[in-house]
Amino acid sequence: MNAETPALPVLPAALEGLITATEWPQLAPLVAEINRLKIDRDAVILAHNYMRPEIFHCVADITGDSLALAQKAVEATASVIVMAGVHFMAETAKVLNPDKVVLMPDLQAGCSLAEAITADDVRRLKAEHPGLPVVVYVNTSAEVKAEADVCCTSGNAVQVVESICAEWGVDRCLLLPDRYLAENIAAQTRYGIISFPGACEVHELYTPEDIADIRDSFGDDLVVIAHPECPRPVVEAADFAGSTAQMIDFIRDQSPARVLLVTECSMGENLMASAPQTEFIRACNMCPHMKRITLEKIRDSLLTLDPQITVDPAIAHKARLSVDRMLACGRNTPIAPEPEAR
Ligand code: 13P
Ligand code: SF4
Repeated sequence: MNAETPALPVLPAALEGLITATEWPQLAPLVAEINRLKIDRDAVILAHNYMRPEIFHCVADITGDSLALAQKAVEATASVIVMAGVHFMAETAKVLNPDKVVLMPDLQAGCSLAEAITADDVRRLKAEHPGLPVVVYVNTSAEVKAEADVCCTSGNAVQVVESICAEWGVDRCLLLPDRYLAENIAAQTRYGIISFPGACEVHELYTPEDIADIRDSFGDDLVVIAHPECPRPVVEAADFAGSTAQMIDFIRDQSPARVLLVTECSMGENLMASAPQTEFIRACNMCPHMKRITLEKIRDSLLTLDPQITVDPAIAHKARLSVDRMLACGRNTPIAPEPEAR
């Protein structure tokens, strides 16, 4: 190295064991460039909990679950928002920030739930169920949100369902499009739920037999935490279920010795640094959409200010009403009892 070559930053402790010494020299210059570009562009990077560890730990300004990312998007003061997540998350950020530039580093980063339902489907269902509120998962397009009465995430679905049913004076509502989230929420509320046959391609793969096998191998101190997008028998076989942020809170509060996270692979990797007391059992499914986002694509989007998310203003206006109603509801308590209460 000559005297003018800046030294590469050292591998952050949070990435030890996740990024090898041979990988880091390729990633470190990208990290440094992105962090410089963020200042030049007046940009903020919002990153979902499923992002690769080098994104989560080295360039993200804000990390969180879908609800937290929507909440933080409202508060964003930077001129440019980079969504390190999937397309519906970037669209939600744009709906909440019509005058800001919202960058989506890879427009192909979709979601099987968002693709499961169209605005026409919602219009048809509304005609079939007149007088009932329509709650749509935040994992949907802006067009679908625009047809809904309110959005929800897995972090506040019980709260949203209960408050809109009470407000409308009805005993049931539609909760679209995740059939498994709908079943898991129905088990937590006295209100009836009408569902739709969408599913997350990552979480629908888990089975209760997988959990039983892993419990057999690891013994009684294993705590199983499932995402509510998993089929109902999987959630029933778990000790706790909640959104990705609720998983983080659970591990922080309960400090379990050994955990199986029944969710996307990066979740456990990203949590290791803040939960050194917990051993994370590696048995997970990867979301191919989340994994499309890389440091290189984030760097390129900041360099070129492209690809940008656009949403038709009339659609954005209606979608915003649904998102705002969700944000006004806040976050619910966990949707499954904690282990000692079971
Ligand atoms: P969270 O809202 O729990 O972060 O979930 C988002 C998601 O896409 C899960 O698959
Ligand atoms: Fe969509 Fe499932 Fe991927 Fe989440 S994990 S973005 S719900 S496909």
